[in-house]
Amino acid sequence: MSPSPFSVGLLGHGTVGAAFAKLLQERSEAVGALTGRTPAVCGVLTTSSGSFDEILQSADLVVELIGGIEPARQYALDAMRAGKHVVTANKQLLCEHGEELFAAAADNGVQLRFEAAVAGVVPVVRVLLESLAGAHVERIHGIVNGTTNFILSEMEGGASYADALAEAQRQGIAEADPSADVTGRDAAAKMAILARLAFGTPVVLSDVHYEGIEHLQPDDLQYARELGLGLKLVGTAERLAGGISVRVHPAFLYGGHPLAAVSGPFNAVTLEAEAITEITMSGPGAGGRQTASAVLGDLVSVIRGDSAQPQPTQSLPFVSDISSPFYLHMEVADRPRVLAAVTGLLGERGISIKSVSQRGLGENARLLMVTHPVSESRLREAMKLIGELEFVGSEPRAIRVIEEEFL
Ligand SMILES: NC(=O)c1ccc[n+]([C@@H]2O[C@H](COP(=O)([O-])OP(=O)(O)OC[C@H]3O[C@@H](n4cnc5c(N)ncnc54)[C@H](OP(=O)(O)O)[C@@H]3O)[C@@H](O)[C@H]2O)c1
Repeated sequence: MSPSPFSVGLLGHGTVGAAFAKLLQERSEAVGALTGRTPAVCGVLTTSSGSFDEILQSADLVVELIGGIEPARQYALDAMRAGKHVVTANKQLLCEHGEELFAAAADNGVQLRFEAAVAGVVPVVRVLLESLAGAHVERIHGIVNGTTNFILSEMEGGASYADALAEAQRQGIAEADPSADVTGRDAAAKMAILARLAFGTPVVLSDVHYEGIEHLQPDDLQYARELGLGLKLVGTAERLAGGISVRVHPAFLYGGHPLAAVSGPFNAVTLEAEAITEITMSGPGAGGRQTASAVLGDLVSVIRGDSAQPQPTQSLPFVSDISSPFYLHMEVADRPRVLAAVTGLLGERGISIKSVSQRGLGENARLLMVTHPVSESRLREAMKLIGELEFVGSEPRAIRVIEEEFL
């Protein structure tokens, strides 16, 4: 029996939308052979052409590649209420309105799929929803923003932050306004979605504590390189006593950590659970054709009737003030009793030092320390007091360390 047609309404024809239309044309026959349905675009909506109502009439499935909240949210809801499946790559929409959208899919007996919304082409959504549906995922670490990972890789090679950002923009890896990427907000949206899937509890962007890479200095990267560490923008979602924590911040990773070697505009996600130990997946984090491939995978899943959907089962509290080891960087005058004053101040607050070294001499010396795990609030309080010491130069810096094995 020859395959029957499957109509795809396409909302958005930009970087991903245009690449998806092209990929679908190239692959439709193969998808037809695989699934018994041959997909084809039945209508395209942009700001200047197409009609959503007409597309909705004829589509079996709507692909939303407009981005942003409105009108993407309304179109997705209208499509599902009209009994159409929806595939989207829109992390912003999902991390703000995921519950409303998941409920609309369930209420209307349709599928909402969104593999491309997190970590580009890396199939982490599918793995969480299907392969690990029965596992009790304890922790996720992710490099989920390719732009910042590219910038940090350039800085590792000696570039300043400004030059690395300019190079990312020149190569089309960073947008003209890079703020969503460099502040960590984009990664936070993706970690909110992953946490929602892994822990079965609603998570929105405002639940995620995030910090960016704008304040990192070349010598932080230099220090990481000298010790064989990776300095990355890492998203973490984990279960802790009393709830969960979801956060994004720069972190030192010991050399053997699966994420330490991920460089350039790549993404990688590490999933940890008692029964699986650890799984790491990596791949391109963005790009029109790559993202389109993830969208096409979702389309095939819908046609086949694979129907794993996120189910909220509990509402877990968020734990703040997480303990971790910290790397501290202080510009100090190289004088007697400076080290004693700093370590004394830390010691009085119960912060113990794992390692300490000094770089440079005279008025331009730097003290580098790594602490044992300490709560962030206690560390910040101590750093404020250290910053007020008369022999300390510019504001001291603190960066978290993931895993301690490197020392
Ligand atoms: N780019 C990537 O590498 C990447 C990676 C992963 C996920 N994503 C996600 O994929 C989605 C699309 O991203 P993109 O980079 O393809 O965006 P884009 O290049 O800016 O394209 C957006 C498209 O949506 C259309 N559009 C915008 N507002 C509209 C409106 N109000 N009504 C109808 N159409 C409208 C635009 O129309 P015009 O053509 O008329 O301007 C354009 O065709 C976003 O959710 C993004 O986060 C992108």
